[in-house]
Amino acid sequence: MSDRVALVTGSTQGIGAAIARRLAKEGYRVALHGRRSASEMASLLTGLPGASYHAADLEQVESAGSLVRDVLAHHGRLDVLVNNAGAVARFPHADLKAATPAVWRRMMDVNLIAPWMLITEAETALRASARTGRPGCIVNIGTHAGVRPKGSSIPYAVSKAALHHTTRLLALTLGPDIRVNCVAPGLVDTAMSTGWEAAYELWNTKSPMRRPAKPDDIADLVAAFCRNDYVTGEILIADGGLNLT
Ligand SMILES: NC(=O)c1ccc[n+]([C@@H]2O[C@H](COP(=O)([O-])OP(=O)(O)OC[C@H]3O[C@@H](n4cnc5c(N)ncnc54)[C@H](OP(=O)(O)O)[C@@H]3O)[C@@H](O)[C@H]2O)c1
Repeated sequence: MSDRVALVTGSTQGIGAAIARRLAKEGYRVALHGRRSASEMASLLTGLPGASYHAADLEQVESAGSLVRDVLAHHGRLDVLVNNAGAVARFPHADLKAATPAVWRRMMDVNLIAPWMLITEAETALRASARTGRPGCIVNIGTHAGVRPKGSSIPYAVSKAALHHTTRLLALTLGPDIRVNCVAPGLVDTAMSTGWEAAYELWNTKSPMRRPAKPDDIADLVAAFCRNDYVTGEILIADGGLNLT
């Protein structure tokens, strides 16, 4: 598999960094991504053979085009796209005024439109990957809050619910050349969830697994979607069973 290339957006830390490490271990050349400069992020590439780093602020959704072009210029092909980069807004669902148009736009731009643009830009390369023997693979990172009426805020949950539905619609549209799946985590112990005491309390006391996920728990599932050549259109909830309560 050593010639296969995976782009993992938002892989400077947290879930994305775990996914990048995991896919590198599975033999992919990984293209890491974040907003910070390549010089700041050089240490990220240590121990990841053939890996590269590409900077792009996906709130500027047009930057998706140059990101995919940079990755293709560097690696010459693209087999897997993991849409992991995401933005969160955290405020009570009942605080309707906090959901300003600017908040709505940021959530939709980073969590929905940027992944859409990346998929659009990557489609030709992912179809070319299919001609080398295995379907191209897209894995989107959603959230349990896109499935159940929960989560950090209504705009965040809605943007991810739209990403879930896009996953299904694109699985239907892009098969058999490209598979499209989604992992929908519950609480994951990362910088994004730091300080959210109520959520930690909930997961530690009420979820069957009695803990939030670690980034590696989510990376395992992304790697499984990448290994499999048949499953498409699935939204896999990874919330330690909280949805059962
Ligand atoms: N943590 C949770 O509890 C949880 C639960 C469910 C779903 N998720 C989802 O999982 C994904 C990863 O979350 P995480 O917890 O690992 O978050 P994190 O630790 O805050 O990392 C976020 C990553 O996304 C990048 N990013 C953020 N905004 C960006 C932008 N505008 N343009 C480009 N890159 C951007 C960051 O890069 P920089 O280096 O530029 O900051 C960073 O690499 C997100 O989609 C999130 O919604 C998280």
